[in-house]
Amino acid sequence: MMKGVSVGVGLLGLLLACVTTAPTDKNRDWDIYSFHINSTVTSRYATTIITSRVANRIDQSQEIEFHVKIPKNAFISKFKMTIEGQTYDGIVKQKEEAQQQYTQAVSRGQSAGIVSSVGRTLEEFKTSVTVAALSKVTFELTYEELLKRRLGKYELLIHARPMQPVADFKIDVYINERPGINFLDITGGLSTEALANAITKTHASSEAWVHFYPSKEQQSQCESCGEQGLNGDLVIAYDVHRKTSMGDLNEAKGYFVHHFAPSNLPRIPKNVVFIIDRSGSMHGRKMEQTREALLKILGDLAEDDHFGLITFDSSVSTWRKELLPANQDNLEAAKSFARHIHERGATDINAAVLEGTAMLNRHPQEGSASLLILLTDGDPTTGETNLEKIHENIKEAIGKKFPLYCLGFGMDVNFDFLEKMALENGGVGRRIYTDSDAALQLQGFYEEVATPLLTDVQMVYLGGANLTQTNFSQYYNGSEIVVAGQIPDNNIEMFTAEVIAISKSNRVMYSDTLPTKEPIEARSDSHIQRLWAYLTVKQLLDKEVQLSGTAKEKVKKEALDLCLKYGFVTPFTSMVVTKPQGEDSQVAHKPKEGEKRIQSSQVDYGSSLHFLNHQVHRAPELSARNIPAGPPPKVGLRGNANKRGGGGRGIMSSGGLMSRSDYDYDVGHAVQQSFPDFAMDFLDFNDPLRAHPTKTTMRTTTTTVSPVQRFLLPAEGQALPLCYDIPVALSLRLLIDPNNDLAMNGQLGQSPSAGYQKIVIHYRSDQHIGLDTTGITFNDGQNTTYFSWSLKINHETDSVSLILRDKEMDVTIASTRVVIMLYKRNGIKFLWPVLRQRPTGENIIGIMALPPVAYEEVQGITMKLKIQDKEVDVSRDSAVDLSVRSAPNVACWLMPLQSALLGGLADFTVTQL
Ligand SMILES: *[C@@H]1O[C@H](CO)[C@@H](O)[C@H](O)[C@H]1NC(C)=O
Ligand SMILES: *[C@@H]1O[C@H](CO)[C@@H](O)[C@H](O)[C@H]1NC(C)=O
Ligand SMILES: *[C@@H]1O[C@H](CO)[C@@H](O)[C@H](O)[C@H]1NC(C)=O
Ligand SMILES: *[C@@H]1O[C@H](CO)[C@@H](O)[C@H](O)[C@H]1NC(C)=O
Ligand SMILES: *[C@@H]1O[C@H](CO)[C@@H](O)[C@H](O)[C@H]1NC(C)=O
Repeated sequence: MMKGVSVGVGLLGLLLACVTTAPTDKNRDWDIYSFHINSTVTSRYATTIITSRVANRIDQSQEIEFHVKIPKNAFISKFKMTIEGQTYDGIVKQKEEAQQQYTQAVSRGQSAGIVSSVGRTLEEFKTSVTVAALSKVTFELTYEELLKRRLGKYELLIHARPMQPVADFKIDVYINERPGINFLDITGGLSTEALANAITKTHASSEAWVHFYPSKEQQSQCESCGEQGLNGDLVIAYDVHRKTSMGDLNEAKGYFVHHFAPSNLPRIPKNVVFIIDRSGSMHGRKMEQTREALLKILGDLAEDDHFGLITFDSSVSTWRKELLPANQDNLEAAKSFARHIHERGATDINAAVLEGTAMLNRHPQEGSASLLILLTDGDPTTGETNLEKIHENIKEAIGKKFPLYCLGFGMDVNFDFLEKMALENGGVGRRIYTDSDAALQLQGFYEEVATPLLTDVQMVYLGGANLTQTNFSQYYNGSEIVVAGQIPDNNIEMFTAEVIAISKSNRVMYSDTLPTKEPIEARSDSHIQRLWAYLTVKQLLDKEVQLSGTAKEKVKKEALDLCLKYGFVTPFTSMVVTKPQGEDSQVAHKPKEGEKRIQSSQVDYGSSLHFLNHQVHRAPELSARNIPAGPPPKVGLRGNANKRGGGGRGIMSSGGLMSRSDYDYDVGHAVQQSFPDFAMDFLDFNDPLRAHPTKTTMRTTTTTVSPVQRFLLPAEGQALPLCYDIPVALSLRLLIDPNNDLAMNGQLGQSPSAGYQKIVIHYRSDQHIGLDTTGITFNDGQNTTYFSWSLKINHETDSVSLILRDKEMDVTIASTRVVIMLYKRNGIKFLWPVLRQRPTGENIIGIMALPPVAYEEVQGITMKLKIQDKEVDVSRDSAVDLSVRSAPNVACWLMPLQSALLGGLADFTVTQL
């Protein structure tokens, strides 16, 4: 996957080389005797703690460094150093406040030191402290992130580079996902053959453990490891099960999170316009890579997609004036056009995006998902060049009708400008790094938006407050919508979640309540609350970018308060790292994604002195954000640090820690699409069980002891009912009423006495109700609605009445009334239908329609009954009467299946529900 940060170009690359080589010589004098990375992931929220224990091996004090890399998307939430029993906690403060302290420290001749830097996915954290002769220090850094689902999986990235082989080196990962873990893969540079036996992976249904314990020898032998020990990534990729389309709803301590990522929907045809920069700066490799990606992307368009191509420099050329269907002929013509895109002049972004917008606006949007994708590597240099004016123009032209995605190619783009333009128009900004894999990056981005499944997604939470974003213009397959919020007074009984969206041909609605009946094992931690805070801050950061004036200040304040409360280091906050008294400090500041000025400052990064200067250069920017005047705030008043009085201090701050665009992208993209046969997932036609040749199965059951489901058959005029057994896992014909075009089938569970796992009711040829143990899907021929068993529903149309309460679904269609009950017995959930009102009319058949049987006991022979003039062998047995909630055990005469189902089982089985 990611190969560390080694991909920088030019000066940046040089700089990184300096950083990585600088500490080598010093390493010999200290021993990292223990290095642990511990990641805990719950509900996709990952908390990682890096603990490094270092001993000073020489008999004089020396400066010992702690230097690690963490994912850009993460917020650092804790840092502490423990030296000689004394702990020094980092304190998160408003950025300006921390900065001011830092500035004062500098003017007093102290230096401060914490580092962050930008790679593609990682940022760097570096500090150091002076440790007395033959003493030890423990560094502990904690960071948190919400894992984003991208192309069907979550990835936890752990970078390990302790800088020397470590005797006690461990990476421990624990993942706990209530819906169950679908797959778990380990990749990354450290997942090599040489290290394979150091990795163990345990994967239970909803939990997984990954341990990486390489020996000291292994740490210097592996590929990309050397004298300095390990240097690489471990990437843990996984996905979770999604039993219902509604997704996964979790609650703890008054906070909830909803993960929504249905995949069983048909794709919505796209209308996509690619706007490609062909200005002079694209010359050479960039242009080649763009052509390569474009050719591949064109090849991936589906036939019902429509597309347009625009290239621009100082003038704008369209391949065709209108969007055209992605059929063979058009694609060939477009590819030929793409092969001949060559760089020419200046960059008129404004005119190009306006043209793309106009093309989409002219094209019919109904039943499709429209998107604009802009690829550029530079600032607007011709036409309209006023950035604000361009933002205004584009926003007005698009009018929220479709998202605009802005891909910034390389480091010369004004990424802030592009990102803001994307965010303002419901899209995201993404940087494409000028590397050998740039074409793959472009394709990867396209793949993420290639399959719209829903549009106009509204997430509605009754009884929820302080919600994160709830409206999403589009949802793409492989991504995920995450919404978190508070539940005031922890009133979870009143809480319901609903999703309303448009799929390919339908309006769809899903709803659910919190799984109160099956609480998560009393979790004492507050991970859902922190997840909510994290997501809220991320979204406020994006909002802030788009606002100005007092609205901006308000959003900033809101974000700041949360960051301070939760201890997150973000663009608005910095961490003041307290150190022992008299300690010299150094400082570094993380360059913000897309900030050219800061990037150039990285050049000086290897030298702390120069770096300091850059810090100071940044001050004007900060002062614009009003650094408070007045006495220097006190530091070191937390933890043990204050006992020592004011020590040196460093500032760690992060400007644009997370690539916001990345983040948004996943979360902001639930989109929509059409949804044809949503009920299909209930029917599961691939179920191998259904393919069973029924007759064979039946024969087997008569001769061997197969697991069975017992059925009761009422007796006429006798106290004792009859009963009989049907082999499990069969799909049965429950009821057919040809007069009312009604058919009801059910699939038995796989274990004995596990009732039905699925039941489907078809009526009026195009309408159906699917039930399984998770919920009910109702398709009225046009719209599909899903609801969980825990809801109360009262729904009536002219053909059907549905009443759901207390886990009983009461269905009335024409003269038939059926109640389907959800049971949980012996740990197994199953359905049981009861016919409350028989259909009137002729030719009613099915297991449920069997009429009561009249029998008489044959005199003298107690084990024989006479039924319709035939003698039948029976035995005295019992059955559970599932037609009443209390499910009593009742005595019955157990009779052979053939006698119960006159005509044999074959007449009562179906191959499809
Ligand atoms: C990892 O951290 C968690 C949370 O602090 C803790 O409960 C767990 O025991 C740690 N695991 C290991 C292997 O140290
Ligand atoms: C969506 O993704 C799932 C899982 O990757 C896949 O099975 C399904 O076919 C995809 N749907 C469409 C419409 O491509
Ligand atoms: C929403 O958040 C604000 C600020 O944190 C808090 O004051 C308020 O009580 C919250 N609202 C609810 C309904 O919980
Ligand atoms: C979400 O969309 C609905 C329907 O368009 C609208 O009524 C509602 O105000 C939107 N909510 C937010 C928070 O924008
Ligand atoms: C389906 O939903 C749409 C949108 O709410 C509504 O206008 C239409 O009447 C619904 N169709 C049926 C058959 O209920």
